[in-house]
Amino acid sequence: MIRNPKDLTRYDAQERANHWLVGICFILLALSGLAFFHPAFYPLTQLFGGGVWARILHPFLGVLMALAFLVMFFRFKSLNVMTPADKEWLSRAGEMVSGNDHNMPEQGKYNGGQKAMFWAMALCMLLLFVSGVFLWRAYFNLPVDVVRLGAVVHSAVAAIMIAMIFVHVYAALWVRGTVRAMVYGTVTRAWAKQHHRAWYRQVTGKS
Ligand code: HEM
Repeated sequence: MIRNPKDLTRYDAQERANHWLVGICFILLALSGLAFFHPAFYPLTQLFGGGVWARILHPFLGVLMALAFLVMFFRFKSLNVMTPADKEWLSRAGEMVSGNDHNMPEQGKYNGGQKAMFWAMALCMLLLFVSGVFLWRAYFNLPVDVVRLGAVVHSAVAAIMIAMIFVHVYAALWVRGTVRAMVYGTVTRAWAKQHHRAWYRQVTGKS
């Protein structure tokens, strides 16, 4: 049974819709962006109605993702402020990856790794957006050197971002019981106690 009245709410419907809008835009942007990056990926343009449509849609999807991420950024930024416990968690993350997570410092709603990922995502989003505008020649006819700089930054940051999202998705799958937080909005008490004990105490009022 996936839902139990004792489960804890982690995300409301608006937060989930916001997250999945960003996620879906990201996948579509990665597919169309790869098609422009290398001829081997060009067939991916068929998913968008051909090369011309892929080129038209890609920047509009980018603007939609940037706006949706901006909403997510302001919603989550205060929850992602690094604390000394998070820094300690990060310095000992190797222990947890090798299977011993019993002595890790207690974490709030997000752990040090999620917080570092959050700020890295925000920086990449900003760079992707600005460099993407440099390349949007249909609306911004900038000097060719600016367009060239935009092309390098845009492709490098997109590659980094794709790698980061792989890590984000892998971590969500690796920690069992996490994906449902973004699907149903809830997590079990056992999940919260094991992975985010300080958050568990805060939402349940238990010591
Ligand atoms: C497309 C596949 C994706 C999946 C399966 C996925 C899954 C998840 C899950 C399960 C959580 C909840 C983690 C928790 O509550 O501990 C989460 C949180 C989050 N996700 Fe994703 N996600 C995806 C894409 C993205 C993308 C593309 C972005 C942004 C570029 C993103 C940004 C975030 C942020 C900011 C959080 C909140 C964590 C924080 O604030 O530190 N996600 N994601």
